[in-house]
Amino acid sequence: MSGRPAPSRRLLLKSAAATPAAGLALTACSGETGPAAPTAPVDLGAASEVPEGGAHLYRDHNVVVSRSGDTYTAHSTICTHAGCAINKLQGTTLICPCHGSEFDARTGDVLRDPATEPLQKLSVQAKNGRIVAGPAD
Ligand code: FES
Repeated sequence: MSGRPAPSRRLLLKSAAATPAAGLALTACSGETGPAAPTAPVDLGAASEVPEGGAHLYRDHNVVVSRSGDTYTAHSTICTHAGCAINKLQGTTLICPCHGSEFDARTGDVLRDPATEPLQKLSVQAKNGRIVAGPAD
């Protein structure tokens, strides 16, 4: 008889202690979003910022645009390995700060692991001397 109240009180204390922690964990996860590429067309700036045969990184929008002649190509700079925003462009090579993956800014192809998937391609056009990029068509 003396053993019965103790287990239920212990169970009650365990439940009370566990509930707030579970609530905090749900709250902490529900509001988090990582960096993202544009979900609607965005004016990135003057087309002249993208060098012929090269690329320009738009860190604020997580986009890289490359140019070959009059053809522009855009890719998301959200790393396909674990979602970090790529913040470094060396020539036409994008370098992820998190684990060192490298991508070709002109094609989105992986040049160095640990990433294995290419960067997401975006739509892009030069309109009135401005670069506008957005989600792929
Ligand atoms: Fe880019 Fe891991 S998130 S290499």
